[in-house]
Amino acid sequence: MRRLALIGFSGSGKTSLAGMAWSIGLKSADSDAELERLTGRTIAGILDSGDECGFRQLESEVISGLLAQDFSFLAFGGGVHAAHPVWGEILQSRVPVLYLRGSFDEFLARAADRPLLRQLGVDGYRDLYEKRLPLYERSANFTVDVSHRTLGEIWSEIETLWKYISR
Ligand code: S3P
Repeated sequence: MRRLALIGFSGSGKTSLAGMAWSIGLKSADSDAELERLTGRTIAGILDSGDECGFRQLESEVISGLLAQDFSFLAFGGGVHAAHPVWGEILQSRVPVLYLRGSFDEFLARAADRPLLRQLGVDGYRDLYEKRLPLYERSANFTVDVSHRTLGEIWSEIETLWKYISR
């Protein structure tokens, strides 16, 4: 089965792009939405309660569960690397990884209600972004630039990539 996992910082468009995959008949899933569905809790609620460890554990379990199903497109939360145990599993299951690369300022503009932004403040959130960049870069098989581009333009590049990897 051909698959593609989307990674990138919050606001890079992972969830919207995974949703667009349905438009060409591909089953897709988003780990954040799945976690909220399974637990009946919001991510903001979990993180605001101060239990990031518990959140990462749940995130790890949810991603393992998604990997065991037949989704073609998988969007993972921006902190997927912090869910350590699952990261090795993602690589072992040989899911090609697509990194959505963009600028902090652009992501920040879309991140108004993100719990980690509220907790860390803008400077702390920027540090988090900078710490994660090399992790995203290192784990990516493919990279698509998302800055100053519409979702439609980005999707069209991903669709071309999808055709290439599933040929
Ligand atoms: C997080 C990103 C969020 C969500 C949670 C933690 C992070 O997902 O999983 O708020 O650690 O960066 P998105 O990247 O979909 O916003």
